[in-house]
Amino acid sequence: MRLSGTWSISNGLIATLLFSTLTPAIELDLNDEQSIKDAASTSTYSMMGWYYGNETGQIPGSFPEKWWEGSALFLALLQYWHFTGDTTYNSLMSEGMQWQSGEEGDYMPSNYSSYLGNDDQMFWGLAAMMAAELKFPDVEDGFSWLSLAQGVFNTQTARWDTTTCGGGLRWQLFPYQSGYTMKNSVSNGGLFQLAARLARYTDDDKYSKWAEKIWDWSTSSPLVNNKTWNVADSTQMANDCADSGNYQWTYNYGAYLMGAVYMYNYTNGDEKWKKPVDGLLGKTLKTFFPNGDVIEDVTCEPIKMCNFNEILFKGLTSSWLAFTTLLAPDTAAQIKPKLASSAEAAAKSCTGNNNNTCGITWYQNKWDGTTGMEQEISATNVFLANLINYNTGSFGPVTSKTGGNSASDPNAGSENDDEKKMKPITTGDKAGASILTLIFVFGWAGAVAFMMLGG
Ligand SMILES: *[C@@H]1O[C@H](CO)[C@@H](O)[C@H](O)[C@H]1NC(C)=O
Ligand SMILES: *[C@@H]1O[C@H](CO)[C@@H](O)[C@H](O)[C@H]1NC(C)=O
Ligand SMILES: *[C@@H]1O[C@H](CO)[C@@H](O)[C@H](O)[C@H]1NC(C)=O
Ligand SMILES: *[C@@H]1O[C@H](CO)[C@@H](O)[C@H](O)[C@H]1NC(C)=O
Ligand SMILES: *[C@@H]1O[C@H](CO)[C@@H](O)[C@H](O)[C@H]1NC(C)=O
Repeated sequence: MRLSGTWSISNGLIATLLFSTLTPAIELDLNDEQSIKDAASTSTYSMMGWYYGNETGQIPGSFPEKWWEGSALFLALLQYWHFTGDTTYNSLMSEGMQWQSGEEGDYMPSNYSSYLGNDDQMFWGLAAMMAAELKFPDVEDGFSWLSLAQGVFNTQTARWDTTTCGGGLRWQLFPYQSGYTMKNSVSNGGLFQLAARLARYTDDDKYSKWAEKIWDWSTSSPLVNNKTWNVADSTQMANDCADSGNYQWTYNYGAYLMGAVYMYNYTNGDEKWKKPVDGLLGKTLKTFFPNGDVIEDVTCEPIKMCNFNEILFKGLTSSWLAFTTLLAPDTAAQIKPKLASSAEAAAKSCTGNNNNTCGITWYQNKWDGTTGMEQEISATNVFLANLINYNTGSFGPVTSKTGGNSASDPNAGSENDDEKKMKPITTGDKAGASILTLIFVFGWAGAVAFMMLGG
């Protein structure tokens, strides 16, 4: 059925009215393992409708305008395979995650490296780390998953910046990027998490020392407050990180929570890490589940202004909450009911376009009129998160001592030679990067004002 040539997501309201009664939601019975798997299979299939990397003439794993989103897609696919056992997408995953790994095996491919942020590269590192931890087989004649995570760790720790604020990772890599003069939570929290996971997997204290260092710096900065457990989004180097941009995002909390919970597990339940786990978890559950216990990115959802990055945040965070229960079983009683109510609401949002398209404003319990790969990724993640209730014993991430055999290369990556990887910058690159930057620096309001005024 088509209304007219201009049919688009802006007609979302009409679409909601038309289809909400016609298309059944994704059926989800959380007491039935197969029902959860089926729901995840449906949303994963929709998600893959946006992936062309396995077709002739296309580039595996490539999303040119939003490179980091490939890592979000592969993170969802890895968990899809892990929790359901369905291998449909496995070869496409190996191919895409290798193709984008870059010339030196550190997720700095030269096509994109001139305008990446530390956070973009870091998410690919987390995907490689997850592949190792879930025992996704290494490929022959490629980089091992573990070495790719190590490559990202090595290149990023080499960028640790002590010129201002007593340390920290900048958001972006090059002086022509606006985010070069900021330090932000997802970059630092993400590297903290990667270090903690490498520590647990390899049992090499080089990584745990870095995790401690990043954590201590973060809590001494305005990014993480270790009394209130507020996690700010970013801080400016211009005034030596005296204040912060305090937009609240699920993934900033999740990035640090996962790092803390891996350190908690790695240290066999050390009190030093129990406090941050309890503190960050408590604040996360209190802040981001305001409507019917359904996870919500409260900064953008109520005003319907989530951009394509932001739609992914709560999906990533749902996965991290699920892994938190596996690594710190004490937390399960608090987390599981929230993952359940969130998944039920998400399933009810999947009535769009007459083809089970999922929305993002889950707490509305119906489709919100939006369509996209990002919506499908987040729905997939929250469905899969509920499979932790089945077979828990075998779902936890492994280490090199408990069955993980991805090959280690402690010197992976090219460390400090970012200069070499800078290709000549085209006007197009600059424009692309600075628009993204505007959105992040000034938030949605500033970005909208910018687009209305001049863009
Ligand atoms: C569902 O419909 C939307 C809008 O037409 C389309 O973009 C999307 O690819 C469709 N998904 C599937 C799985 O067919
Ligand atoms: C690419 O993968 C999809 C699954 O997402 C599959 O349906 C399609 O047939 C594949 N295309 C090719 C050319 O292999
Ligand atoms: C980089 O671009 C070239 C030319 O389009 C392409 O052949 C190659 O596969 C791309 N590499 C990556 C990692 O996307
Ligand atoms: C909070 O963080 C500061 C700065 O890193 C540290 O000095 C202090 O010991 C921490 N407090 C607790 C209770 O861990
Ligand atoms: C660490 O994680 C494993 C599962 O991977 C779990 O069995 C164990 O209880 C956890 N340790 C602690 C201290 O919670």
